Amino acid sequence: MSDGPNQTEIVDVARTADPSRGSFATNFGFIMAAVGSAVGLGNIWKFPYITGEYGGGAFVLVYLGCIAVVGMPLMYAELIIGRRGGSDILGAMRNLAPPGSAAGRLLSYLTGGMAVASGFLILSFYSVVAGWALHFVAVSLGVMPDATLGADGTFKAVSGSKSLSTIWHTVFMILTMTVVAGGIHRGIERLCKILMPVLMLMLVVLLCYVGYTGGLGQSMTFLFEPDFSKLTTAAVLEALGHAFFTLSLGMGAMVTYGSYLKSEQHVIRDGVAIAFLDTLIALMAGAVLFAIVFSAGLEPEAGPGLLFITLPKLFVEMPFGVIVSTGFFLLVVFAAWSSAVSLLEVVVAYFVDEWKFPRTHATWIFGGLVWALGIASACSGDVFDFLDNVTTRYMLPLGGLAIAIFAGWFLSEKDQVSGFVGYGKIGKVLEFLWLVTIRYITPFLIVVVILSKTGALDGVLKETPPEQAEPAVESVESGESGESGESGESGESGESGESGELAD
Ligand code: PHE
Repeated sequence: MSDGPNQTEIVDVARTADPSRGSFATNFGFIMAAVGSAVGLGNIWKFPYITGEYGGGAFVLVYLGCIAVVGMPLMYAELIIGRRGGSDILGAMRNLAPPGSAAGRLLSYLTGGMAVASGFLILSFYSVVAGWALHFVAVSLGVMPDATLGADGTFKAVSGSKSLSTIWHTVFMILTMTVVAGGIHRGIERLCKILMPVLMLMLVVLLCYVGYTGGLGQSMTFLFEPDFSKLTTAAVLEALGHAFFTLSLGMGAMVTYGSYLKSEQHVIRDGVAIAFLDTLIALMAGAVLFAIVFSAGLEPEAGPGLLFITLPKLFVEMPFGVIVSTGFFLLVVFAAWSSAVSLLEVVVAYFVDEWKFPRTHATWIFGGLVWALGIASACSGDVFDFLDNVTTRYMLPLGGLAIAIFAGWFLSEKDQVSGFVGYGKIGKVLEFLWLVTIRYITPFLIVVVILSKTGALDGVLKETPPEQAEPAVESVESGESGESGESGESGESGESGESGELAD
């Protein structure tokens, strides 16, 4: 790559966003909001259970590699597109597409449209799961006296009840819409600046608690001592797919948040901080969960039911179980809340920037539509399964692929390098590495993941050990069974199995 433009040039060419769109007041606020988006059910519910199923240490190592090789370059790409494009995902890409390039424009419209649809669809079922967590908080606090805390019954009672699921989904959507209607600074930034530090503090307290009650040593060994004999191709694919979901990539959340950034000076540093904190929180959540599971003498492979079935059973037997249980599910709700806000923000920003809707109208109208669609997921496991599969298996990776191609091949050099300026020689090296990765490596890996999920690579990649080939539903039903019950394919559908099974 030729010499990048200097600082002054960058400032000159930076498209400054319309100030009436709002912006994050401080860099800390931005980081907390982006971490809030990244840290969600993916970290506290999904990461521990897939790690449990794929055997611990070796999977964690591969996952860390995926975050570094695919996650971080794409994170930079999304943030810089947002910051330079100064608009919602569709508008930002259109603004940055090379003038006169029909392909660039087409890619902007297709990617933007799909991203907005992803935000809409993901939020509709994400909110249902978050609603279940709200129910657990209420049960732990004794606000819902009928439910028996700790029994499978609590989960079945809520996920199997159309009315309860719908009520909690409604409460959660109202919480989400209220924040988004408040705007970037007064709504999202303010919420995340409080929630994220509280969430981390709660995790530290829980870690100390399990350190005291036992199981932490075993949990750490499980998470950090790799046993490569347990590593399968399926595990690697799962790790790669999860890297997207957990960092909120592939659907414009980071593009949208990046568009409210005041300067690109912090993009690299912030991107690293976001990925680091997201990973740290996933590992801490995993450490707490497995410590509880191990101290009860159970095996870690409970599957998707780990959070909602296995843990509550153990909470009742623990000292201060009610407090731990309330704290834990409150943590899940907080994590999901700040993620849900970013999902809705992608949709709202699109209607505000492209269609000039006032923010409050856009929030309540489109949030209301998400709510209505969510009722279908709350009432039918099939709808839930379908939306979960289509979005996390196909739409996010496809969105990631499109964004990588756009960033690598369509963005102007000035836009591409703008976040590296100011880092001297290191910046130059990073710039080179980023460009090679985003142009070739990231697209290649994403295509492999997508093809593997369609089954197209079954002949090429098939070395899943036979004992891992059972359907995910088995492991959910048994809750704490010691059997590993999942093939690589079913990682995402595990949740589906769960809801499909129980929500009918
Ligand atoms: N990253 C969130 C999680 O880990 C989920 C999410 C995906 C949020 C995409 C926004 C966009 O739960």
